[in-house]
Amino acid sequence: MSQHRVQVSASILDSDLANLASESRRALSAGADRIHLDVMDGHFVPNISFGATLIRRLRAIGDQPFDAHLMISEPSRYMDQFISAGCDSITFHVEVEEPIEPTLLKIRRAGRLAGLAIKPATPLSALDPYRELVDIVMVMTVEPGFGGQQFMRDAALKIDAAHEVFRDRPGERPSAREVHVDGGVNDNSANLCGRQGIDILVVGSVLWKAGVDIARRIESLKSLADEGYRESRFAGEAE
Ligand code: DX5
Ligand code: ZN
Repeated sequence: MSQHRVQVSASILDSDLANLASESRRALSAGADRIHLDVMDGHFVPNISFGATLIRRLRAIGDQPFDAHLMISEPSRYMDQFISAGCDSITFHVEVEEPIEPTLLKIRRAGRLAGLAIKPATPLSALDPYRELVDIVMVMTVEPGFGGQQFMRDAALKIDAAHEVFRDRPGERPSAREVHVDGGVNDNSANLCGRQGIDILVVGSVLWKAGVDIARRIESLKSLADEGYRESRFAGEAE
């Protein structure tokens, strides 16, 4: 049970992948609210991780929310697999070179949250055509592909404005309205993310370093982000 407003989605990319189920349980029992699953195809990004089959098997750990982050060139081609694997939210990149709208609609029709991620150099305006179709905006604060990189402050400054993407048209289904920040989140960057009004911190490598007390690390990140959030323009808004 978390007293915090800001939630943590634990990225298991840099965990002990030979023991993924126990690593995921360890993060969840230490206070992570969800699991963030980084799927890479060696084409959209210069790295290969894992796919839908692994996610399907990992579902056996329980019903905690699974956020899939697809760093792949053809999300449409594989979307049925990620839906049936049991992902609760599925986020792919706005930079893909294929039609985006049908894939977002497919995710929502399956009753899952649909997200778009933007690379550090991509302006938020790239999301304009999809404003009514997204539940999650994922602001990347590193170049996607690897954990353990340096947080890019300039990219994080898009978080505040990212909330504007969710203006629903009258009569439309209100989205879940979540802004996620992904990449380089640590004790030095969590406060800034909070001041920008972040909803979900994606946290990877800092959880998995040898000797880290994961519960203390998560508690510290949430507290720093909450402190920042109280200074944000969103403070006091009904949740
Ligand atoms: C990077 C991934 C991230 C990454 C986060 O491409 O999308 O989710 O694993 O790891 P850290 O927190 O180490 O940047
Ligand atoms: Zn990610």
